[in-house]
Amino acid sequence: MDPTLDEIDLDTVRLGRTGLRTNEFQLGTWRFGRVTEAGNVEIDEARAHELLDGYEAAGGRYIDTADVYGGGDCERWIGDWLAERDRERYTIASKVYWQIRDGDPNSRGTNRKNVRHRVDALLDRLDTDYLDVLYIHRWDDETPARELMKTLNGLVESGKVHYLGASTLRPNAWKVARANEIARSEGWEPFNVLQPRYNLVDREIEGEYLEFARQQNLAVSPWSPLGQGFLTGKYDRDEDLPEESKAAESSRFQEAYLTAENFDLHDELDAVAEEVDATPAQTALAWLAHRDGVTAPIVGARTTAQLAENLAAASIDLSDEQVDRLTAAKSGPYDGL
Ligand SMILES: NC(=O)c1ccc[n+]([C@@H]2O[C@H](COP(=O)([O-])OP(=O)(O)OC[C@H]3O[C@@H](n4cnc5c(N)ncnc54)[C@H](OP(=O)(O)O)[C@@H]3O)[C@@H](O)[C@H]2O)c1
Repeated sequence: MDPTLDEIDLDTVRLGRTGLRTNEFQLGTWRFGRVTEAGNVEIDEARAHELLDGYEAAGGRYIDTADVYGGGDCERWIGDWLAERDRERYTIASKVYWQIRDGDPNSRGTNRKNVRHRVDALLDRLDTDYLDVLYIHRWDDETPARELMKTLNGLVESGKVHYLGASTLRPNAWKVARANEIARSEGWEPFNVLQPRYNLVDREIEGEYLEFARQQNLAVSPWSPLGQGFLTGKYDRDEDLPEESKAAESSRFQEAYLTAENFDLHDELDAVAEEVDATPAQTALAWLAHRDGVTAPIVGARTTAQLAENLAAASIDLSDEQVDRLTAAKSGPYDGL
């Protein structure tokens, strides 16, 4: 039987080459206040606070958000929750990039005007003086890397932000490398944290991107570690989609995840899960946490029961042979490790 949230005691690890420590699993809040294609709020304020309480009970102190989650409600709800606590004990990461005003191209991307305004606005919503990690949510090709790095460095110098991160897709590893080179030559703060999509199904970052992170000792916090729920065993190749799952409402999810190749991979996941007496979700999270170069996956959950199941993955040990079998269960770009 899985431990309850207060029986879990999450460990901490170094956030890459920084002096900061993060929990081995970070809490994802993307679904707080998110409105689904069917028009329902996926996680409301009361549930959001329950999830934050549950994560805290398990020893979790690292919360990942973004300024667009729930149209700003997500940060507001985190801010309300934090207001009753000692802010210093928590590490909050947020992100800026996506357009926020119709018809205003400057309200998108990482130009100086937008970044400065967005950081002030998110600090206001979080009701805090500083952010621990500021990510660019995506790479903006219209803003020169020098403008971006100088702006971000200014935020670090002013004390509004402690560390910088890039939530980017695989083809952008060289852009992060180039931006960090500019920062290094100017004595500015570089990106120290990467946030890519990575899970047993989505393997795009294997190869160059992950190798770059390893070489530079950059922290890697993978998002969608369970393939938006696909790797939890709740989908069956021959059956109707489970009604309670919100992801199943999305046609994009169905096309990307519910494929014959991915179900074959799931068969191997089920086999390893049985060997280690764990659930498929726990086994998929343990595989990710065991990958060389991965620092701390960002765990998403819609209920506290899911959260408890997922965080219990911290105590699951996989053998090298089991990790290798899972790695090989899907053809894709491998990093040879
Ligand atoms: N940087 C970026 O661009 C980016 C993008 C996406 C996410 N993120 C971050 O990464 C976090 C995690 O992403 P994600 O939500 O996609 O993670 P995920 O772990 O891949 O999927 C989470 C979803 O899977 C289902 N699930 C989770 N645990 C389960 C369990 N034990 N049993 C059954 N179903 C379970 C739940 O949805 P259902 O119950 O509805 O199926 C849950 O909402 C986000 O909250 C956000 O902080 C960042």
